[in-house]
Amino acid sequence: MQKIINILAIESSCDETSAAIVQNGKVLSNLIATQKVHERFGGVVPELASRVHMQNIIPVVDAAIIDAGIKKKYISAVAFTQAPGLIGSLLVGACFAKAFAQALKLPLISVHHMQAHVLAHFIDANPPFPFLCLTVSGGHTQIVLCKGFLDMEIVGETIDDAAGEAFDKVAKMLGLPYPGGPLVDKYAKEGDPLKFKFPLSEMKDYDFSFSGVKTSILYFLQAQRKADPDFAANNMADICASAQYTIVKMLISKLEKAAKHLNIKHVGIAGGVSANSGLRQALADAGKRNGWEVYIPRFEYCTDNAAMIGITGYHKYLSGDFADMAVSPSARAAW
Ligand code: KG4
Ligand code: ZN
Repeated sequence: MQKIINILAIESSCDETSAAIVQNGKVLSNLIATQKVHERFGGVVPELASRVHMQNIIPVVDAAIIDAGIKKKYISAVAFTQAPGLIGSLLVGACFAKAFAQALKLPLISVHHMQAHVLAHFIDANPPFPFLCLTVSGGHTQIVLCKGFLDMEIVGETIDDAAGEAFDKVAKMLGLPYPGGPLVDKYAKEGDPLKFKFPLSEMKDYDFSFSGVKTSILYFLQAQRKADPDFAANNMADICASAQYTIVKMLISKLEKAAKHLNIKHVGIAGGVSANSGLRQALADAGKRNGWEVYIPRFEYCTDNAAMIGITGYHKYLSGDFADMAVSPSARAAW
């Protein structure tokens, strides 16, 4: 009979406090407490985020254990996000995970958030290796070559802004609230993606840059507003559709280039921006063009969540990759 391994997973890298129980790679529970407090500031305020994590962490972990229908004594290990993220936020999750592990004499597993975004694919699906993943979130944009669950290589990444950040900044210029990515997506559905032309930046190999498109949209809006102060409101759908088209085109063309050169036919997207309808459609189209099998995790596993920390923790558990109690979180870390 297969041994039952229950991983308690904790994610607190940014503004979501999340806890999950993952049993032998299957998600039994995945609770996410989103912090509304940042909305009126137009971005995440780190100090507020850590304070809300402190309030949320115990009730969220409690609820995840109850939801999973297991007793604490059946937990096999505690996995937590060790890096990257906001240091104050990471500290809350790390300290809680260590205390919990210490109290119940459980092994501790430290997880890299970006590796977890990639492994979110393996919660409901089973893409074969080699597998290529474009991870697009509010903080990162990477093309990751996966040769195994724990054998990954970053083959391309942004040299400045992340794709989610680009969406959020465009939204801010248009007067939309934070996080604006989902709103740009919503307005884009009604607009003409070819109405306004923004430059596509050309980076080397499989790298990205989004600061140019952001600046060109800013200058474009400033110029248009001189003639029509309500230009953004009057052209919201077309501006959103054109900006989204530009960002998605840059993402997919690099993904296509990487998949062709590396000769990979199993390709996925992960991270918060993979919720974007334009990107999803573009991935499906690229899949048809190139004969790829394409993968997108379920929505709740795309944005920040502890289930992805749990699946990563499970594979680390199987390979005996445990952390020392002296492990400390890190705002930036290579993997
Ligand atoms: O992965 P995630 O939840 O958190 C980070 O690790 O950053 O990603 C959040 C990002 C935000 O920038 C948000 O605006 C963006 O994902 N996002 C979207 C959409 N849904 C979320 N961007 C464009 N279209 C969407 N539908
Ligand atoms: Zn993330």
